[in-house]
Amino acid sequence: MRQDNIIIRRETPADYAAVEHLTREAFWNVYRPGCLEHYVVHVLRRDPDFVPELDLVMERDGALIGHVLYMRAKIVADDGREIPMMTFGPISIRPDLQRQGLGKYLLDESMERARELGAGALCIEGNIDFYGKSGFVVAGTRGVHYHGEPEQEIVPYVLLRELQPDFLKGITGVYHTPKGYYVDEAAAEEFDRNFPPKEKLRLPGQLF
Ligand SMILES: CC(C)(COP(=O)(O)OP(=O)(O)OC[C@H]1O[C@@H](n2cnc3c(N)ncnc32)[C@H](O)[C@@H]1OP(=O)(O)O)[C@@H](O)C(=O)NCCC(=O)NCCS
Repeated sequence: MRQDNIIIRRETPADYAAVEHLTREAFWNVYRPGCLEHYVVHVLRRDPDFVPELDLVMERDGALIGHVLYMRAKIVADDGREIPMMTFGPISIRPDLQRQGLGKYLLDESMERARELGAGALCIEGNIDFYGKSGFVVAGTRGVHYHGEPEQEIVPYVLLRELQPDFLKGITGVYHTPKGYYVDEAAAEEFDRNFPPKEKLRLPGQLF
């Protein structure tokens, strides 16, 4: 894709409100009636696992069109070791610009920066139809399981990508989502009152 007029840079406090608005617009009614993700972004910026260098906004011609943030996470290996790695999300593209390759561009660029920062692997919860195009595989097929799920269960939405070759060679274990992602829904509801009213709809395909 053309990229000359696209900038990916670190988020600054001056971007916070616009990024939360963008996240709310991108996620609203997609996975549940309304969404929590704008509150998740708000909370994670103060989380000890947050990676400020990988809190990235994407601009085109000066307009905010995308955002992604990364968190430090771990795989607890079956041999007892804790393997530090990273996860990311929420990732958002402005709704009117989705499905034009921008999400993949932001994702691929941010993963390259994560690799340069030393991250060896990423685990996420997401749709393989999108993330598979950027090299993710279902984590269970590589012996990495999801906390809270039985090991024989291959959870299709828990995905893995190595950023350093063979980083997870010979390692099996359990991926732990950073605690910061589990936000209090009542607090999210309260936070949402700071935004313009928006109708919550029950739509087909929602997960929650
Ligand atoms: C998910 C999201 C970041 C993807 O960004 P995007 O710019 O729309 O996606 P792209 O155009 O870069 O898509 C890259 C590829 O993934 C596929 N894809 C994108 N979104 C998809 C989805 N939701 N489901 C299935 N496939 C998807 C596209 O078909 C495309 O493949 P193609 O080029 O072969 O057609 C964006 O749609 C978004 O903000 N969605 C709402 C919030 C969200 O769901 N975030 C992710 C939560 S895990």
